[in-house]
Amino acid sequence: SSSGHGYRDGLGFTPVAPNSADALTVAAGYVSSVVVRWGDPVLPDAPTFDFDRQTAAAQAKQFGYNCDFVTFFPLGRDRGLLWVNHEYTDENLMFRGWTTGDTAPLEQIKIGLAAHGGSIVEVERVGHSGQWKLVTRGRRRYNRRITAQTRMAFSGPAAGSALLTTAADRRGTTVYGTLNNCAGGTTPWQTVLTGEENWNQYFVGGNGVPEAQKTYLTRYGISTTTAIPSGNRRFDRVEERFDLAKHPQEINRFGWIVEVDPFDPDSTPVKRTALGRFAHEAATTTLTRDGRVAVYMGDDGRFEYIYKFVSKDRYIPGFDRHNRDLLDEGTLYVATFTGDSPAAEIDGSGTLPKDGAFDGAGTWIPLVSGDKSFVPGMTAQEVLVYTRVAADKVGATKMDRPEDIERNPVNGAVYVALTNNTNRTAAQVDEVNPRTANRHGHILEIVERKNDAGATSFGWSLPLVCGDPADPSTYFGGYDKTKVSPISCPDNVTFDAQGNLWISTDGNALGKNDGLFAMPLAGSERGHVRQFLTVPFGAETCGPLITGDQLSVFVAVQHPGEITGATPDNPSSHWPDGGAAQPRPSVAVAWHKQGKKIGS
Ligand code: FEO
Ligand code: CA
Ligand code: CA
Ligand code: CA
Repeated sequence: SSSGHGYRDGLGFTPVAPNSADALTVAAGYVSSVVVRWGDPVLPDAPTFDFDRQTAAAQAKQFGYNCDFVTFFPLGRDRGLLWVNHEYTDENLMFRGWTTGDTAPLEQIKIGLAAHGGSIVEVERVGHSGQWKLVTRGRRRYNRRITAQTRMAFSGPAAGSALLTTAADRRGTTVYGTLNNCAGGTTPWQTVLTGEENWNQYFVGGNGVPEAQKTYLTRYGISTTTAIPSGNRRFDRVEERFDLAKHPQEINRFGWIVEVDPFDPDSTPVKRTALGRFAHEAATTTLTRDGRVAVYMGDDGRFEYIYKFVSKDRYIPGFDRHNRDLLDEGTLYVATFTGDSPAAEIDGSGTLPKDGAFDGAGTWIPLVSGDKSFVPGMTAQEVLVYTRVAADKVGATKMDRPEDIERNPVNGAVYVALTNNTNRTAAQVDEVNPRTANRHGHILEIVERKNDAGATSFGWSLPLVCGDPADPSTYFGGYDKTKVSPISCPDNVTFDAQGNLWISTDGNALGKNDGLFAMPLAGSERGHVRQFLTVPFGAETCGPLITGDQLSVFVAVQHPGEITGATPDNPSSHWPDGGAAQPRPSVAVAWHKQGKKIGS
């Protein structure tokens, strides 16, 4: 350890320098390899990937595009299952000659539908190392593709609601597909929770919905004046349900947290309506002091909110039948934050107030509990389907794009990545979102009252205000800013066994590649941010996940080569295959050459 100050953070690696290489670069002493790429086989009968002869039927059996959330379920010591989200597609990188969805061959649009969703793949350890590789032989009984066309069920208080019915589903209980699955979480009963984030971009015909619905579409970022928004993938050319003028309520069936059982490939994924509907970044679980399940969730939009769900009943280890209904009954809360410094000291520059900290207190405001709405003028089902509108009415605090959120298993605090918000004006700054035109984002730490995830009040502070450490608007937990790595646009968070915070970034506004960073939270090393890896040119860093044995860290390298103007005939990245190859979004694993713990 480099600490030597009493706190055993276990972090000793030398940081990777910021760069613009078309490579996955890891800290000295570590090595990395690719686990699974776009197009690799998921189902045993998947055809070999052929970039220039891709078909929808092949894609539906192969690893999808733009891998995001990654989670890992061990199957003994040397085998495991990976669940991976496929957030969205970059058609301009997937197909030669792509112009728009309006004119694309229908087969390409069908490939797009099949490249969304998620994958479950079996992986195996290489030797005794921290390296893992895709299992490509044998039965692979758990392997599964979930796409934008997979049949799913609704459950919870809004299932069967009149707001969820369509011509194809008059009971409002069955929906096909999941879209824009960004971050996620797992449950104590070993299922996956995957968040539907920017699902608003997949629909056309917003101008043709009934008048009464337009205010809701607008609140969720859907044009009510344009028939075909520019850049739309035109899924409606393959499936009419994506045309809101014809099927105005189909859109209400997206924007949920979806639960998937990775151990039963025949199971029906379930959209859990009790968790509300917004641009779900993630859903991570923990237990309250009395054993109920708390789920923390971000709504990734500028000036959107942070939410928490707390189940009515307790989690009972081993009682699967009981546990599997826990996310259907409980209370959905939204967060409000107040600062403890005078407003005049929060001037938008990022300068710390006189008490030396951006900090304060907060409250979880209940929105809905089962069939009971706490929001005047809205029914419980309306609160769940139009959650943003409900949160507006109770005066929740508008945040700088809440991304991933997760409870630290060591200190019990909850950490939120607030990725950026360049639209925040001087009149709109507050102590929890203290910078105008926030380009680089910040990390929020929430300490629930009595460290109980079931609490309805909390304290908070900002341990990290991101950017170039030479920029006076940044704050690195009080650590010496000449000794930290620059960091911009935090997106996903995870923890190692010592409770250090690991942060991956998306959209580095400092002009270099994105990456993965480690930051101790306790003792004199708090704020000592170090970059552990960088991802290839044009990519964002997702996942990340450190395995329970601490020997491996998985990262999803999403959209390598995604820059304006890039095409298959003019690619800006050749990662991971190199040479003249097309870029392929892939999950990679990094490990220490001598088998030391990640971060050593
Ligand atoms: Fe899909 Fe909010 O990142
Ligand atoms: Ca303060
Ligand atoms: Ca994200
Ligand atoms: Ca992101």
